[in-house]
This record gives sequence, structure tokens and C-alpha cells, in this order.
Amino acid sequence: MKRHALLHAMFWLKAFVAMLMGLFCLMWFAWRIYDLHSRASPTFYTGLQAVTNAFLPNGTVNPTCYHNTSSGLARLEPAITSALTLGFSLDWSYDTPTTIVDKLNGYKPLVFNTFMDFDTSIPGYFSASLLNWFGSECGRTGAMLELTIQPTAVPISLYQQVHFDTLSAALYQINSRYGVPILLRFGHEMNGPWNTWSFDPIGYPELFRNMTLSVRKHTNMTAMVWGPNIGFGYPFNNSGSTTPPTNKSDPRFALLDTNGDGVINEYDDPYGPYYPGDDYVDWVALSLYYYPPDETHNHDIAPGFFDAYLTGIGYNQANGNQWWELYYNFYARFCGPNGHGKPMMLPETGAPYLYNETYLANGEVSTVPGPTATWPGDPLAVSAVTIRQEWYDSLFNQTVLSIYPKLKLVVNFEEEKILSNYWRDWRLTNDSTQLAAFQQIITGFQKQLPSATSFTFGCDGTVMLT
Ligand SMILES: *[C@@H]1O[C@H](CO)[C@@H](O)[C@H](O)[C@H]1NC(C)=O
Ligand SMILES: *[C@@H]1O[C@H](CO)[C@@H](O)[C@H](O)[C@H]1NC(C)=O
Ligand SMILES: *[C@@H]1O[C@H](CO)[C@@H](O)[C@H](O)[C@H]1NC(C)=O
Ligand SMILES: *[C@@H]1O[C@H](CO)[C@@H](O)[C@H](O)[C@H]1NC(C)=O
Ligand SMILES: *[C@@H]1O[C@H](CO)[C@@H](O)[C@H](O)[C@H]1NC(C)=O
Ligand SMILES: *[C@@H]1O[C@H](CO)[C@@H](O)[C@H](O)[C@H]1NC(C)=O
Ligand SMILES: *[C@@H]1O[C@H](CO)[C@@H](O)[C@H](O)[C@H]1NC(C)=O
Ligand SMILES: *[C@@H]1O[C@H](CO)[C@@H](O)[C@H](O)[C@H]1NC(C)=O
Ligand SMILES: *[C@@H]1O[C@H](CO)[C@@H](O)[C@H](O)[C@H]1NC(C)=O
Repeated sequence: MKRHALLHAMFWLKAFVAMLMGLFCLMWFAWRIYDLHSRASPTFYTGLQAVTNAFLPNGTVNPTCYHNTSSGLARLEPAITSALTLGFSLDWSYDTPTTIVDKLNGYKPLVFNTFMDFDTSIPGYFSASLLNWFGSECGRTGAMLELTIQPTAVPISLYQQVHFDTLSAALYQINSRYGVPILLRFGHEMNGPWNTWSFDPIGYPELFRNMTLSVRKHTNMTAMVWGPNIGFGYPFNNSGSTTPPTNKSDPRFALLDTNGDGVINEYDDPYGPYYPGDDYVDWVALSLYYYPPDETHNHDIAPGFFDAYLTGIGYNQANGNQWWELYYNFYARFCGPNGHGKPMMLPETGAPYLYNETYLANGEVSTVPGPTATWPGDPLAVSAVTIRQEWYDSLFNQTVLSIYPKLKLVVNFEEEKILSNYWRDWRLTNDSTQLAAFQQIITGFQKQLPSATSFTFGCDGTVMLT
């Protein structure tokens, strides 16, 4: 009898627990549905902008969305003078536009960057769901998306119209659904051996032009960004697997040996051979960071570092070399009134603080930084905060605004990674001391650094100050 009562009690206990579990699951599903719906509602996207549909019901382009080619502004060039805009290139595994805006106490950067592969062997050619997520996350804070698309298929002649058009249609969806403009940095750093599409002055510009023509059929809210790496060190031997042509009968050889001396080296033009042409490029971008002199010390940034690298004149440049002077003034050549006159961005930039690598017991490199790489007792050592302060003082600077009026956007590489035996950290918002210091820099330059809330976006590619 006792056994019977026990089983009886156990039966009801199990039934009760099962009921609780069922209820819990129901509640959890209900909450998920509520949560997902709230994300789909406008209140979730506090920054979401309404834009006019680029296509009329009969499928023709709405004339409102024609880009005004005589407005004096390129597609997605912010209508600002004597001012800059700010962006961040995120490690999206823990940062989103929303977390950055929270950390910056409500200041909304205009742009967020992400990297994505575009390959003929990927089903759908790229991850449409990831792209949608990046776009919608930017929509939540009213930001634009800088999309660095890596055309990784080899050879690049594999790309056909269907690939370009599939990507363009997805970009238009982000533009129209979330009102998020896209700065499409397509096939970046095509002058460095670390990319498969590099050192190809015939195929690469054609690939870029193909992409441009396709994008413009779909949308004017996506701008084409051509973004080489800083030429200093070109062609960067031993730092990647793609090499410049060595066969002199290869037509690409003559195009890259711009000074015609029979070798492709740093006295050849590191930019021009890869330029797709004014009609196909909306913005130019230059990957330009602070590079510690021997890549090993946490030392002060040399005065004039930024100008020198941007113009090829001054600190650490081959001053007086005729070829260098002809080729390395990126700003004058691509942005100046006597050059291509394009708006310019620093699509990824920053000043790294170096930490030693550390090793795990199994000999592998640890994924967390070790102690500072500063040598004990080094009298020239400076703090992480000082290095970032010096870099941003050289960018957020009244003189820079007046001598480089076409520089419109600065995007901090908000990441850290191991490179050449050191752990390098470029982040401005990951620790509270650095964050507080950077907020002071923004506050000091507030008037010249309008936030995303100051802009409205148009389907014709305008970014207007309100
Ligand atoms: C499409 O519709 C617009 C506006 O209604 C009209 O002006 C245009 O002529 C139409 N185009 C075609 C090809 O039907
Ligand atoms: C983009 O603007 C150009 C004019 O600059 C126009 O010819 C084209 O139809 C527009 N495309 C879209 C999709 O709005
Ligand atoms: C294009 O921009 C120019 C210069 O701002 C302006 O004069 C012209 O009216 C604009 N055209 C259109 C169609 O808005
Ligand atoms: C450019 O597009 C044309 C037409 O689709 C195609 O034949 C060609 O292979 C493409 N070239 C590159 C480099 O994408
Ligand atoms: C690159 O290679 C050339 C010749 O192969 C050599 O003279 C030069 O020192 C190398 N530069 C670097 C940075 O390794
Ligand atoms: C160099 O290129 C030419 C023309 O493409 C080719 O005929 C020749 O075989 C190549 N030479 C070598 C060593 O690869
Ligand atoms: C870190 O690296 C520096 C040289 O870059 C070295 O002098 C120092 O001893 C290292 N610190 C530790 C704790 O290993
Ligand atoms: C401001 O920029 C100018 C020109 O680039 C430079 O010479 C100057 O040193 C910068 N000021 C600071 C505080 O970095
Ligand atoms: C700092 O970076 C780590 C990853 O390195 C991340 O897990 C953490 O959330 C970040 N913290 C902040 C405040 O951004």
C-alpha cells in the first residue's frame, strides 16, 4: 500500500513538472515572438529613416532617385564643410552600433564597417542573412554601413553578371528596407600581396567597373569606394601569397612597372594602375594607420606622421626621389582640385598599442594579450591613451580640415589582433580609461564632428545636414 502511495505521488509530481516545463516553453516561445516582433517595429529602430522607393510600380526608376551628377557632391558624400564624420570598424562578435552608441553616451557615429566575402563558390555568393543583420543593426542607430566586400574567387574572371546583380539587389534591399546607405569598399587593398585579387591592373579595374554598373542599375544609395593600402612599402614582399607578375611578356608587368626600369618596386606607382576610372568611383579610401617606426615600440607618434603618409612628403618618406614625388601624394592625386577630386575616407585607421604575445602550455599563441610590449625602463615609452590622443589630435584638427577639405570620414579600426609577433590593440571604447579620454576628444571637436542624428539620407544618394 505504501509503495502504491509513493508511486501515486511520483506520478503527480512528474505530471506537475511536465506541466511546468510545458508552460515554461510556451512562455519562452511567446516571449521570443514578442521580442522578434518588437525588433520589426519602428520603435526598435530609433534611428531608422524612411526613404523613397527607387522604383515606380511599372518598374522604372523614380526620377526623385536620380543622383544629381552636377550637385558637386559624390554619392553619399556628406554635405559638410570644415567638418568630418566618425565611424568604427567593429568586431561584431561583441560590438554592434548600439553598444558603441551606449558606450559613447548617446553620440551616434555616422558609419560602421564590416568585412564580407563575395565568392562564386558560396551558395548565394555571400551570406545574405549576415548582410541583412549588419544593415538592420546600422538602421537601429541611423548609421550608414561601410561594407568591405572581399571578392575571393580565383581567378576573378569567374565573376559574371548574375553575381554582381545578386549582390546589388541585396544592397538595394538594405538601402530601401532600413533606409541605410552603403559605402561599398569593393576589393580593398588591391595593391597588397595579402589579397587574392591583388596586383592585377587589368582584371581588377574591370571587376570594379562591372560592380559599379550593376549597383547603379539597382540603387543610388550605395556608393562605390575604391580603397588601396598606403603605398609605403609597396609591393610589400614576403607579407602575403599573391605576387606581382615576374614575366615581362605578361601585359600586367608593363602596367605595374610604371617607371619602366624593369622591376616592380617601391618606385613604381602603388595606386594609379589599379584605379577603375572617375566614372566608376564615388569615393576613394586609403588604409592608413599609425605604424610604430620599427613596429615594436610604444612610442610617441612623430609630428607630421599623418601628413607625411597621406602626401608622401616629410617624415619617413623618400623625399627628393623623383618617382616617389610623382606617385605618393595620394591626396593631391585623387582628391585635390587638380587631381580626381574625389571625397576621401580613412576606411580603417587608428593607433595600435602593443602587448607581448603569450603562449599556452601546448605552445600555441594565447588569444589574450600579454603584458605591455614596452621594454622595462624605456624612457621613451608612452601610454596607450597618449598614443591614441596623438593620432586623433592629428586628424581631428582645424588645420587638417582646411588643407584636406575632401577628407570626410575617419573610421577607427575597433579591433585587436596579433600581427608580426605582437598583440596590437586599436580600440577606443573597450576600456573605461581609454573611453573617457576619447570622449573628451570628441567633445572638444563636437561642432566639427556631427553625429548621425544630424543627417537625412535620400534615395538619390544625398546625405544632408538637417
Ligand atoms: C512608368 O510610370 C511613370 C509614372 O507613372 C511614367 O511617367 C512612365 O512613363 C512609366 N514608364 C513606362 C515605361 O511605362
Ligand atoms: C541613379 O542615378 C542615375 C543618374 O545619376 C540614374 O540614371 C539612375 O537611373 C539612378 N538609379 C537608380 C536605381 O535610382
Ligand atoms: C543639381 O545640383 C545643382 C547644383 O546644386 C542644382 O543647380 C540643380 O538644380 C540640381 N538638379 C536637380 C535636378 O535637382
Ligand atoms: C565583367 O562583366 C562581363 C559581362 O558580364 C564578364 O564577361 C567579365 O568576365 C567580367 N569581368 C570581370 C573581371 O568581372
Ligand atoms: C623586398 O625584396 C627586394 C628584392 O627582392 C629587397 O631588395 C627588399 O629589401 C625587400 N624588402 C623587404 C621589406 O623585405
Ligand atoms: C611569359 O609570358 C608569355 C606570354 O604570355 C608566354 O608565352 C611565356 O611562356 C611566359 N614565360 C614564362 C617563363 O612563363
Ligand atoms: C615584453 O616584450 C619586451 C620587448 O618587446 C621585453 O623587453 C619584455 O621583457 C617583455 N615582457 C615580458 C613580461 O615578457
Ligand atoms: C594638426 O594638423 C597639422 C597638419 O596636419 C599638423 O601639422 C599639426 O601638428 C596637428 N596638430 C596636432 C596637435 O597634432
Ligand atoms: C572588450 O573586448 C572583449 C573582447 O576582447 C569583449 O569580450 C568585451 O565585451 C569588450 N568590452 C567592452 C566594454 O567593449
